[in-house]
Amino acid sequence: MGPEQHRLLQAAYGLMPQGVAENYRFWGPDRTVFVQSAKGCWLTDCDGKRYVDFRLGYGPIILGYQDARVDAAVIEQIQSGATLTGFSTPLDLQVVEKIKALCPQIDKVRFANSGTEAVMGAIRTARAFTGRDRVAIVEGGFHGLYDEMMWKTDLEQWDPSSGQRPPVIPFGAGIPEKSRDLMEFIRLNDAEGLQQLFEFKGEELACVILEPIIGNAGSISATPEWLAMLKSLCHQHGALLVLDEVKTGFRVAKGGAQSLYGLHADLTTFAKAMGNGYPVAAFGGRADVMDRIGSFKGGVVHGGTYSANLIALSAANATLDILMNTPALEVAHHVGSQLMAILKSTLHEAGVPVQFAGPPSMFGVHLGESVPTNYRDWRKTDNRLYEKFAWAMIDRGVMLEPDSREPWFLCEAHQTLDLDWFAQVTRDAIAHALKT
Ligand SMILES: Cc1ncc(COP(=O)(O)O)c(C=O)c1O
Repeated sequence: MGPEQHRLLQAAYGLMPQGVAENYRFWGPDRTVFVQSAKGCWLTDCDGKRYVDFRLGYGPIILGYQDARVDAAVIEQIQSGATLTGFSTPLDLQVVEKIKALCPQIDKVRFANSGTEAVMGAIRTARAFTGRDRVAIVEGGFHGLYDEMMWKTDLEQWDPSSGQRPPVIPFGAGIPEKSRDLMEFIRLNDAEGLQQLFEFKGEELACVILEPIIGNAGSISATPEWLAMLKSLCHQHGALLVLDEVKTGFRVAKGGAQSLYGLHADLTTFAKAMGNGYPVAAFGGRADVMDRIGSFKGGVVHGGTYSANLIALSAANATLDILMNTPALEVAHHVGSQLMAILKSTLHEAGVPVQFAGPPSMFGVHLGESVPTNYRDWRKTDNRLYEKFAWAMIDRGVMLEPDSREPWFLCEAHQTLDLDWFAQVTRDAIAHALKT
């Protein structure tokens, strides 16, 4: 961390809790990054150091930072139309039509401003449709900062050899104990656990919500068989399947994870890649479910001052248009495959076993002998070595999350990356990590 960032952090301590605008930006007193600018796949920090970025703002950047095509559409909207009026516009319809063209499971859509809000809308709608309150989530998944979803399996305090289940704890302070009462927890790819959930709680469940490719646990993925079993059990018991595609939507494939699995949810949430970094989100799905939303008596309340604002929608319209009509995603996938091949060979050369989970545009790197099949397995990978490796990569100009639960995100602009340089950095970083 250079002197200017150090100065900024010292000043920020007096202005924001922990000196940052949101918790996840605090990387410690010597590591917190202040960004000056971002363009394509590059970030420049406030001390002038450049990094090729694989965090991409937690995943929304799918084309590149400051993509000229998306920015031009937003600027045109600002100059020639309105940005926010609290009324409907033709753009609302255009964006929904694009989402429907890419995702055949979607009949109807409502907009939101963040993934968290999209999840809240989907869960409320599922509860209204089923007349039930209970919700099941998958260990290791993440569904935003919404109290009921902010419970997690505590693997830090868990001894895998104990034969006990890991404890479930809140993400942090201020989460009401009662918000856990309606939650159930299942393990990805655990068929027996799924049977038990439905046997004991099936008739109380409004929905099961999950990321089929867990973008918050190293892209560990549901098997197609398990996901199909989950869908069928949901429907046998009158519950809905909600797939949270906030990270995977319009990224892992044009039609998201559901198009890779060939399986469709009742409700889906979207955000991130949908707007290439502009804050836009949505949820949608079956018409009979979505039609429970409305201002009629007994309808689900959904709304918000900034919902479907025209900055967000013009960005979504342009981004979806590019994803539909250009090979941008194929490009991101291709570079991702090349990077995985380089990581595999350089880490193997260094004697470090490595496995990959998830698709090339959002791949998880797991240092171990086998690909984790659920969150508890992730604990068996060498996360300490990964962390050292990630810090060594960061020091050498490759920006990563120093936690292997966050996948590597690719964007179209990564096609400009010098792969020889990347291979050399990887070799140096793993050698350094093994020495420390
Ligand atoms: C799968 C998933 N759902 C929901 C969210 C919450 O989205 P947001 O941060 O936009 O509120 C995230 C954020 O990373 C996510 O990965």
